Amino acid sequence: MRAILVTGGAGFIGANLIKYLIEKHPDYNIVNIDLLTYAGNSENLKSVEKAPNYTFVHGDICDRELVERVFQHYIIHGVIHLAAESHVDNSIDGPEVFIDTNIKGTFTLLDVAYKYWMEKPFVYKKGFENNKFLHVSTDEVYGTLGETGLFTEETPYAPNSPYSASKASSDMIVRSYHHTYGMNTVITNCSNNYGPKQHDEKLIPTVIRKALAGEDIPVYGDGKNIRDWLFVVDHCKGIELAYKEGKSGEVYNIGGKNEQNNNYIVHKICELLDELVPKDGKSYKDQITYVKDRAGHDFRYAIDATKIETQLGWKADENFDSGILKTVEWYLKKYKG
Ligand SMILES: NC(=O)c1ccc[n+]([C@@H]2O[C@H](COP(=O)([O-])OP(=O)(O)OC[C@H]3O[C@@H](n4cnc5c(N)ncnc54)[C@H](O)[C@@H]3O)[C@@H](O)[C@H]2O)c1
Repeated sequence: MRAILVTGGAGFIGANLIKYLIEKHPDYNIVNIDLLTYAGNSENLKSVEKAPNYTFVHGDICDRELVERVFQHYIIHGVIHLAAESHVDNSIDGPEVFIDTNIKGTFTLLDVAYKYWMEKPFVYKKGFENNKFLHVSTDEVYGTLGETGLFTEETPYAPNSPYSASKASSDMIVRSYHHTYGMNTVITNCSNNYGPKQHDEKLIPTVIRKALAGEDIPVYGDGKNIRDWLFVVDHCKGIELAYKEGKSGEVYNIGGKNEQNNNYIVHKICELLDELVPKDGKSYKDQITYVKDRAGHDFRYAIDATKIETQLGWKADENFDSGILKTVEWYLKKYKG
C-alpha cells in the first residue's frame, strides 16, 4: 500500500479530509504529520485513529531531519500539504510564525520530497515516477475584489495580509519546484470553508458559541464583507480529485458559488438557533454587536471554479442551507453536549 503524507491533519480541513480519505480509500496508507499547535486537535481524529491504514506523527514540518525520516520510514509516495498557520487575525498580531510554517515548512516538505523522489531535475527515481505533491492554498492570495468579478487561475497574485502573503509565497515555491525540477505538483486555491471541526476562533463557531453563551456576537465593521462559502467536505472532494487527476504544474480554484456577506451568515445562524434552541421569545439576533473592523480587511472574495468543474468533474454537493444546518447541529452537540 502506497503511503501518502497528509500535513496538518489535526486541523479543520485536514481532519475532515483524513476521515473522508480513510473511509473512501482503504487502499491509501495515510500518514498524518501535525505539530498539534493551538489549532490542532487530536479529538478531531478520534474516529480514524484506530484505522489500520492511518498513522499519526507528532512533529513540525520545518524540522527537516524529522521530515526526511518520515519519508524514508513510511516510503512516502505522495503529499497533500495543509499544515499552516491559518488565521488572518493572528497573522496581524504575530506574523513571524506564519513566515516560518507557511513558507519554510512548505519549502522543507518540497525539498525533501524532491530529493527523496527524484535523481535530478526532471528525472524521477524508478518506482517513484507518478508521485505527486498537492499544495492546499487559499483564494486570499489573489487579494480583494470589488462588487463584481471572480478570481480565476489567471488572476494576478495581490495578497494583502501577512497570512495571504505567506500562502502566496508558498504557492510560488511550489510553482518553482515544478518549473525548475520538473516535480509533479498541483496547487488548489479554495474559498472560505465552513463545517464541523473548525477551531473556535473562526467566524461561524464564534457566532454559535457566543450566541449560546448569551454574549455579544461580534461582527467586524459594517458586516458587509463578502466571502464565497464552501462546505468543508466539498473542499475535501476537490482536494481528492486534484490529487488523483490534477495535471502536473496546474492550479485549480475551488469555490462554492455561494457569496454571502457576514451579516447574512450571522443572521442565518441566529435564525437556525432561534428554531433549534429557542430562548424565551427573544431572538439571538439581539446579541449581534458591530466591532472595530479588522486592519486591512479585504472586501470581497469570489471564485470561478469552472476549470476544476469542467476538467476534473468536480461540483459542490452541499448548498448553503443544507451545509449550514449540518454545521450548526454539529456545534450544538459540541457546545451543549
Ligand atoms: N479554512 C479555510 O477556510 C481555508 C480555505 C482555503 C485554504 N485553506 C488552507 O487549508 C489548510 C488547512 O486550513 P485549516 O483551516 O484546516 O487550518 P487549521 O488552522 O484548522 O489547521 C492547521 C493544522 O496545521 C497544524 N500545524 C501548524 N503548524 C504546523 C507545523 N509547523 N508543523 C506541522 N503541523 C502544523 C496545526 O496543528 C493544525 O492541526 C491551510 O493551508 C489553509 O491555508 C483554508
